[in-house]
Amino acid sequence: MDNTFWFDDQQQAYLKNRITSTTRHWLVTGAAGFIGSNLVESLLRLGQSVTGFDNFATGHRFNLDHVAARVGEQWQNFRLIEGDIRDRDACAEAMDGVQIVLHQAALGSVPRSIDDPRTSHDVNVTGFLNIIDAARLAGVESFVYAASSSTYGDEPNLPKVEDRIGNPLSPYAATKLFDEIYADIYRRVYDFGSVGLRYFNVFGPRQDPQGAYAAVIPKWTDRMIEGKEIMINGDGVTSRDFCYVDNAVQANLRAAMAELEGRNEVFNVAVGQQTSLNDLFAMIRGELEGYQVHYDRDPVHGDFRKGDVRHSLAAIDKARDMIGYAPTHTIAEGLTKAMPWYVNEYPAIAKGK
Ligand SMILES: NC(=O)c1ccc[n+]([C@@H]2O[C@H](COP(=O)([O-])OP(=O)(O)OC[C@H]3O[C@@H](n4cnc5c(N)ncnc54)[C@H](O)[C@@H]3O)[C@@H](O)[C@H]2O)c1
Repeated sequence: MDNTFWFDDQQQAYLKNRITSTTRHWLVTGAAGFIGSNLVESLLRLGQSVTGFDNFATGHRFNLDHVAARVGEQWQNFRLIEGDIRDRDACAEAMDGVQIVLHQAALGSVPRSIDDPRTSHDVNVTGFLNIIDAARLAGVESFVYAASSSTYGDEPNLPKVEDRIGNPLSPYAATKLFDEIYADIYRRVYDFGSVGLRYFNVFGPRQDPQGAYAAVIPKWTDRMIEGKEIMINGDGVTSRDFCYVDNAVQANLRAAMAELEGRNEVFNVAVGQQTSLNDLFAMIRGELEGYQVHYDRDPVHGDFRKGDVRHSLAAIDKARDMIGYAPTHTIAEGLTKAMPWYVNEYPAIAKGK
């Protein structure tokens, strides 16, 4: 895995300096998950003190072990609370001494929420309420949370702009919309500001390729490496704005450091680049050629998935203008950086190969 980070870039030096100038105490919920573990790694590298909170529902201890190995002695600035965001007392305890919250814990996946809407609701809505309420009561300085592009639902226009959403198309989308509504209520009623980041198909190292609810990039990459069949839901013209995880990390850090004067804002976090599933298939296959993985099977086309949005593309102007967000990686650059994880590190860590 490449050891360079988005904040090595000159353009990001100002943000890096602002963060490193003071050691703050951050709480990252969902720390053992994909985005959470990438946040933990970046924060530790920036000399910050981090509490991680996770119940390992979908996250893995090996993600945290991997971070520990990569950050060296900075690991001593990390502590883990194993707990559930549905547990109010555990949420309150997790806020001890915390200045900034990056709330990532949730049950992702549209199909998972269709199979089990109640658990998705409990974790994503009640759990969110527990965390934002605990953060308010503890008087944290900054609260940033993972929202979702699924909130755009059936809004037909592209690109998606923050103030124009449609009807949610799945229980998952509804949970993420509820979070935004609660965040807005917390500002109106309690004067507690927050930032919601509507992630658009984030991908990168430590995103889980396994299980029925895996995201498309890790799932296809892993299956190509294993020589297994790949199924595209629908005709493959369905498109997404795939966003490399370093861009999402940057958005979190910028949102946390932004001086938004207690306002409640939501921002798209994406690249502003549309890629069809058919093109994605070809891109991953091409990347793997560089690792002597020659996948010569054609994909199989299945039914369209219930609850899926047909096309997705973000306008990122608002995040750029208000918090200075500037994605550093296109999908192609992100795939190039993510591949060593899937080809070399993931099989060794997770599958013992
Ligand atoms: N990855 C994406 O493309 C994407 C897109 C939109 C929104 N999001 C949101 O970003 C956040 C992070 O997603 P991710 O892709 O890293 O997923 P992930 O599944 O890798 O990480 C989620 C983490 O939350 C933890 N968690 C789940 N339920 C919990 C509970 N009850 N208590 C404590 N911890 C719990 C899991 O164990 C896991 O470590 C989620 O809120 C997700 O809805 C992700």
